[in-house]
Amino acid sequence: MTKGKVLLVGAGPGDPDLLTIKAARAIADADVVVYDRLVAEAILKLIPDGAARINVGKWPGHHPVPQAEINQLLVRLAKTGRKVVRLKGGDPFIFGRGCEEASELARAGIAFEVVPGITAAQGCAAAARVPLTHRGLATGVRYVTGHCRAEAPLDLDWAGLADPATTLVIYMGMAAIDEIARELIGHGLPADTPALAVCQGTTPQEQRLCVSLAELPGAARNARFSGPVLFIIGRVAAIAVEHSEGVHARTTETMAVVA
Ligand SMILES: C[S@@+](CC[C@H](N)C(=O)[O-])C[C@H]1O[C@@H](n2cnc3c(N)ncnc32)[C@H](O)[C@@H]1O
Repeated sequence: MTKGKVLLVGAGPGDPDLLTIKAARAIADADVVVYDRLVAEAILKLIPDGAARINVGKWPGHHPVPQAEINQLLVRLAKTGRKVVRLKGGDPFIFGRGCEEASELARAGIAFEVVPGITAAQGCAAAARVPLTHRGLATGVRYVTGHCRAEAPLDLDWAGLADPATTLVIYMGMAAIDEIARELIGHGLPADTPALAVCQGTTPQEQRLCVSLAELPGAARNARFSGPVLFIIGRVAAIAVEHSEGVHARTTETMAVVA
């Protein structure tokens, strides 16, 4: 039997115009698309009418389709000889569990390809017109998970993360933002370090706020965000205020809530 192929495709952070040309072509050419909760509706609309759609969407702490079953599903679908697109929010290999799927496909001898996507860090930073590195402000950037397995406490290198010259991008951090801010400040990151929160970045529902690290947990809670939230912590975050239109000044001259 001819084996099909699986394309592990990054759908980007939400705006369909941020899909790569390769991703858009893969979707247009798919026989079946297996997709996650974070893939925007506007991107799902690009799936051709004739292609099958399988939603394996996950919610935090609740996984309708367990990862092991998704891995097996991809193998089974490919073995039917179809062109399978596994569509994931952002980039499939940045906090996307894409590598677990790739490894299963490799073990099963199924051909696969990885089509990178714009990760939320890049999309949200660009939407806020913020650079993640900037001469004199940030010599590097770290992508960090704010969520650990099975509700275990966060086990992060707090001393290493509390570096004023590094931009921290926190994925999946909303539920643990009190602990994250407390640990970073406790390990020496100044409490007035600028911090940006972006909810549903790059979509028409996008919301942003920029405050100090000390204010971040309260401000993020008060914002009652609904949808995925990304935190950008570091000196560069204040540039969101300089580069924003219609800023409402708050607490200090350089920090503000940005609608
Ligand atoms: C399981 S991770 C997936 C990340 C994805 N693979 C990527 O490269 O962006 C989900 C987290 O990504 C972040 N995220 C994804 N899309 C986002 C968006 N449009 N706006 C804000 N945060 C987003 C949030 O922190 C969310 O909790």
